[in-house]
Amino acid sequence: MTRRRRIYEGKAKVLFEGPEPGTLVQYFKDDATAFNNQKKGVITGKGVLNNRISEYLMSRLSEIGVPTHFMRRLNMREQLVREVEIIPIEVVVRNVAAGSLSRRFGIPEGTPLPRSIIEYYYKSDELNDPMVSEEHITAFGWAGPQDLDDMVALSLRVNDYLSGLFLGIGLKLVDFKLEFGRLWENEEMRIVLADEISPDNCRLWDVKTNEKLDKDRFRQDLGRVEEAYQEVARRLGILPEGGPSDVKGPKTIQ
Ligand SMILES: Nc1ncnc2c1ncn2[C@@H]1O[C@H](COP(=O)(O)OP(=O)(O)OP(=O)(O)O)[C@@H](O)[C@H]1O
Ligand SMILES: [Mg+2]
Repeated sequence: MTRRRRIYEGKAKVLFEGPEPGTLVQYFKDDATAFNNQKKGVITGKGVLNNRISEYLMSRLSEIGVPTHFMRRLNMREQLVREVEIIPIEVVVRNVAAGSLSRRFGIPEGTPLPRSIIEYYYKSDELNDPMVSEEHITAFGWAGPQDLDDMVALSLRVNDYLSGLFLGIGLKLVDFKLEFGRLWENEEMRIVLADEISPDNCRLWDVKTNEKLDKDRFRQDLGRVEEAYQEVARRLGILPEGGPSDVKGPKTIQ
């Protein structure tokens, strides 16, 4: 086995040097953290499921013209992606009040928001990912005004598309976090969607029962965490039941 150069180890994934220049291998771990690393645990099988869920969602988004870093899945836990220069801003899109928004403003969880709300957080573990405004982002040079415009436009497209996709399988997309990066191709720079889209960074509630099917089960010790991730993959039609080739499309709920 050839040894690959490990580029970065984060809380949920490891990045390795890819086979060609400008590519990376993202390895999805079962490790879970919450509250900026204060709570740590393992969700058995999470890496396998998030690898597949992110592959599926990024592929669908790419089909509707949202540029992403995703190239192809390599195996159960790894995918090949384009290496990008990560913009150190997390973009959060919210449709329904939950988590820190409910806490900060005293709005009960589950309250539908009058319109989708976008928030920005500066990616910094030392500073605890503080919330920032557009002014901070452009003044400190984390992203330019045009980059921000692109990130917002893409985030809203992702929200519209994924809200519909999840509703079709009986799930409410309450909120989610995206990361973007800069990709250069022949002297031209494009902003593309990077990182992952999975129940680690989306809140997904069952439409009928409001049951949480995402990382909040881990954060709040609700139990049946593995099962929740599996249920999302099952409803998307991508749960590997009979091995990796056994992949169906989503089953729409009427
Ligand atoms: N295409 C890409 N090119 C370069 N870096 C990427 C790409 N996609 C994701 N990343 C970065 O890889 C890391 C993924 O690892 P992981 O999600 O475990 O990190 P993390 O512990 O959440 O840490 P961080 O605070 O840096 O996000 C993140 O830092 C993410 O920004
Ligand atoms: Mg991360």
